[in-house]
Amino acid sequence: MYDFDAFLDETREHVNRALTAVLDDYLTGVDEWLTEPIRYACEGGGKRFRAILFLASYEVSGRAPDHRVSRLATALEIVHAYSLVHDDLPCMDDDDWRRGRPTCHRAFGAERATIAAAAMVPLASWVVAEEARAMGLPAAESAVLVAELSEAAGPQGMVGGQVLDLISEGQAVTGDELVEIHRRKTGALIRAAARLGGRVGRLTPPILQAVTDYGERVGLAFQIADDVLDEEGTTASLGKDAHSDRELGKATYPGVFGMERARAEARRLADEAIAALRRAAIASPALEGLAIHVVERES
Ligand code: IPE
Ligand code: IPE
Ligand code: MG
Ligand code: MG
Ligand code: MG
Repeated sequence: MYDFDAFLDETREHVNRALTAVLDDYLTGVDEWLTEPIRYACEGGGKRFRAILFLASYEVSGRAPDHRVSRLATALEIVHAYSLVHDDLPCMDDDDWRRGRPTCHRAFGAERATIAAAAMVPLASWVVAEEARAMGLPAAESAVLVAELSEAAGPQGMVGGQVLDLISEGQAVTGDELVEIHRRKTGALIRAAARLGGRVGRLTPPILQAVTDYGERVGLAFQIADDVLDEEGTTASLGKDAHSDRELGKATYPGVFGMERARAEARRLADEAIAALRRAAIASPALEGLAIHVVERES
């Protein structure tokens, strides 16, 4: 019997160790003014979903990820951690709690948190390029990895989605507009995690396409589940401020479609994600388990 929980725990541990090693290496000699908030943001817990997804996609190649692959996977978590620091700032969602601790700006002040987060974006690109080089990937392939990560995180992707999220506060949005916000602010990076893992694993184009289709659906489901949890969870159970969306008048799935449809849509997307894998004859209990986990998680 496949033990998904053991996979999740073990892989999270690999990611945490790789992340600490990467930060030790790449932040050597950097002033504590910067390294303290970076390490606080990166190392303070978190599900490590994006890096774990990267590694599960890599494993579709039939090989187990080695230490180098895990190091490259941490770039996804560095980008994600930066996005959380900015997301929590007073000028954005203005939240006080993240991963069971004060948010980065609460711990270090807005100046250090903002600049540290900005430093994490080029840091992540550097990690991808450098670790790809160290594992012997051709330079052209390494450039594609950096380009895809940057596209997903940038104006067409996550940052663009965060802008739509902010300007939609207190506004009525259509279902299509909501999907667009969620695909960009959260879906794009998750899709990129699946694709980058597949690329490093050198999956064939049709298999990479199936992993991409999977990642797109899981990415959207992830933010729908996040919206549901914001309504239904508590600050203690989530480790971050609950009911923040309602207070800010955010565009959310439960807000636009109601709780029942939101939950059903997340589940439908997870099922579709799994179907995309099966159509391509990809047998990956890890990816299938992750799709279900996204919609059944409690934090
Ligand atoms: C929270 O992401 C922000 C979203 C994009 C929904 P996670 O739920 O992955 O947060 P951590 O990394 O586990 O703290
Ligand atoms: C976050 O969406 C999307 C990001 C790109 C960080 P949320 O604002 O809903 O994330 P949480 O609920 O604060 O973690
Ligand atoms: Mg937000
Ligand atoms: Mg937020
Ligand atoms: Mg949320």
